[in-house]
Amino acid sequence: MPQPTQNSAGAKEVSPIVQVESVTKRFPGVVALDDVSLHVRRGEFHAICGENGAGKSTLMKILSGVIPDYEGRVLVRGRPVRFSGTRDAEAAGISIIHQELNLVEQLSSAANIFLGREKTSLGLLDDRAMEREARSLFEQLDCDINPARPVRELRVGDQQLIEIAKALSLESDILIMDEPTSALTESEVERLFRVVARLHEQGVTILYISHKMDEIFRLSDRITVLRDGKLVRTLDRRETSRREVTHLMVGREIESVEFGGGRSAGDPILYVEKLSLPWPGHARQWRLENISFELRRGEVVGLAGLMGAGRTELLECLFGSSDERPQGKIVLDGKEVAFSHPSEAKAARVAMVNEDRKQFGLFAQMNVRENITMCTLDRSTQGGLVSTRRERAAALESIDQLGVRCSGPEAAVTSLSGGNQQKCVIARWLKTDPKVLLLDDPTRGVDVGAKAELYKIIDALCRKGLGIIVTSSELPELITLCDRILVLCEGRLTGQLTRPEFSEQRIMEYATMREVVPSSPPDAAGE
Ligand SMILES: Nc1ncnc2c1ncn2[C@@H]1O[C@H](COP(=O)(O)OP(=O)(O)OP(=O)(O)O)[C@@H](O)[C@H]1O
Ligand SMILES: [Mg+2]
Repeated sequence: MPQPTQNSAGAKEVSPIVQVESVTKRFPGVVALDDVSLHVRRGEFHAICGENGAGKSTLMKILSGVIPDYEGRVLVRGRPVRFSGTRDAEAAGISIIHQELNLVEQLSSAANIFLGREKTSLGLLDDRAMEREARSLFEQLDCDINPARPVRELRVGDQQLIEIAKALSLESDILIMDEPTSALTESEVERLFRVVARLHEQGVTILYISHKMDEIFRLSDRITVLRDGKLVRTLDRRETSRREVTHLMVGREIESVEFGGGRSAGDPILYVEKLSLPWPGHARQWRLENISFELRRGEVVGLAGLMGAGRTELLECLFGSSDERPQGKIVLDGKEVAFSHPSEAKAARVAMVNEDRKQFGLFAQMNVRENITMCTLDRSTQGGLVSTRRERAAALESIDQLGVRCSGPEAAVTSLSGGNQQKCVIARWLKTDPKVLLLDDPTRGVDVGAKAELYKIIDALCRKGLGIIVTSSELPELITLCDRILVLCEGRLTGQLTRPEFSEQRIMEYATMREVVPSSPPDAAGE
């Protein structure tokens, strides 16, 4: 029998609201869940963690009706259930917010919230009523999203709140969140946490997947660790530590990564002068304004800033993928360039790993091998024909190097877990042997062990003379990786820090500073 305990909401009757009993889920070639048993207490905040491919999303998909076929038993409120779709789960009070958001982009946020259970009046859709209710849900969530606006025009952070609003409107008392913060910036994460904390206080049971220890340790009552599809242990948050959780996740100690030391920058490889990106039809005329900096060979430069600061846009300008043509000067390896398409950037050996792997990075209809080798097909071509054998060898090398968990190079890329998909995108670009590597939040959704691996790879590439520009939604990551950090605020360069000056506090100060510091541009192109 579960013992009554207290959580942050005060004394509560603690009976399991969800019981998972000996659940096994097999996919062709993979056992995603292996005899997993877990009790979730009513009203608790229960974190689920584990490496990429450990089975976290699979377990949550079973609980929310997305995956209907599995071995074993699930009980909700003491009663055995077998959901054949998300509707069944919703009727039982369970809502899920997926790792990859699931909204219909062209519909309004209100229409998304009420999708499939539209409000009608006299047989017609009652948009006004739905918008009214959506607005009141948004108010509860402290956000002022316009309910009539199409979802595609909203930022990811707001899109996520729509999913939460939907869960609220369904009056779900069990909310599953699968890596909800992986696409959010610091301030959006704070907002989300305020909302989640409130739901928790109201007695909503929360199952929360994250790779970020800060989040796991912030609100959790208990923490369950999965490894290789098996449940390793469920721990009381107050009786464990980050170290223990990490250890249980990866089954070994993660060495702390300390880079930057001993690395020395060479000649400038990239020089950017007075780069501006117009923003037509927008009150702020410039999306990026007058940005100058340089990147040297063997140097990792970080781009920090809040959502909308222009980090991704800056990388896009350098990669030839920005919506508008940038103004100003970009000099690559001594030659002025103006890429109008990523293929030109690629030919000049500039590579970019994108923020949004779903839209740009991943080719869902292809397998792992094709995804990894698609930018380097010429190397696998023999007498005009692509040699699958060479492709396989190349793919296997990356799978091994980055620890991609999959059944092999021929596995459909969509069958991979979120973090492992991201590793495939990274692997593809590493293969292009770039001079300049642009990494837009590369470790999003990647587990701690693989992150450490990726840091080592970045460090090694840098020592080989690559110039690397990286953004991250996590400041500690930039602080670990970079030799220098440039801070953007509203499209302008507001600060620059060298390694000895790094601190989260200082970066945040610059990130919220509207004045441009007079000290930029940097040491005059290094000449
Ligand atoms: N539809 C599918 N077809 C085949 N294999 C799958 C499918 N979905 C998941 N898998 C496999 O099941 C295992 C567990 O995947 P799951 O998505 O649950 O991992 P995860 O713990 O959520 O990882 P991540 O942190 O990367 O999101 C992985 O090996 C994955 O490749
Ligand atoms: Mg997952």
